[in-house]
Amino acid sequence: MLEDLKSNNLAWSLRKTEADPQFFKRLEGQQSPEYLWIGCSDSRVPANEIVDLDPGELFVHRNVANLAPPQDANYLSVLQFAVDVIKVKHILVVGHYGCGGVAAAVDGQRRGLVDHWLHPIREVYAEHRAELEALPAGVVRENRLCELNVRRQVRNVAADVFVQDAWARGHALCVHGWVYSLSNGLVTDMNVDISSVADATSATADRDQLERGFSRLEPEARALIVLHHYLDLPLPEVANVLGIPLGTAKSRLHRALQSMRAVLDADARGTDVPEGRFA
Ligand code: CO
Repeated sequence: MLEDLKSNNLAWSLRKTEADPQFFKRLEGQQSPEYLWIGCSDSRVPANEIVDLDPGELFVHRNVANLAPPQDANYLSVLQFAVDVIKVKHILVVGHYGCGGVAAAVDGQRRGLVDHWLHPIREVYAEHRAELEALPAGVVRENRLCELNVRRQVRNVAADVFVQDAWARGHALCVHGWVYSLSNGLVTDMNVDISSVADATSATADRDQLERGFSRLEPEARALIVLHHYLDLPLPEVANVLGIPLGTAKSRLHRALQSMRAVLDADARGTDVPEGRFA
């Protein structure tokens, strides 16, 4: 049985070298993939194959039910390496319909350790209980939960300090959410892209929270946010309008968004942020 795998490996290596004699030499030199894939361990969802990429083109992290838990050292190590060292441009959170992990999270059966691992999915279910329970029980409801889980994990990735700090450094990085279909091999884009601190802030907040965070900002910080994020004025023009250097506009905008983030985080923890206005 394992002999089969070894001879498959030999044939594959020969095929690759025949098509491109420098293939392995090049890969040995360095890896510089543009994408980090966070997907399910499910054997039917092979990362490279689905998007037809060669070795070296996709940095991959897989676990049961494609989770991005903010306390998981394995996922965080992969994320940090991908963002800080490889400097990927895109992070893809890829769930799949018919995910056994997602179904197991909410079927009420006890399986041991994995029940703890799947806890975040039960939280997603609880958050969207009304919507989910309005759907027919079974596949339809589970598949919706797969989608909601992807959206949630996209937000987890975008809220992570490694990603937030990369944006602060001006690193162009976008987090995407896809769901793969086992029945036809196609991915569906959930259109939940997050590519800035501002996107991440609005993706994780409701309107009241945003307004509360906004009202705490200094007038100049508010002006920056309104001009740049609501009126879509390019940052150099915003700097012009306000009569400040571009670099100052950039750092003030970033501080303003981080301050709004602090209000939202304090909300989530149920604590108060210190009184007073933010920069
Ligand atoms: Co799965």
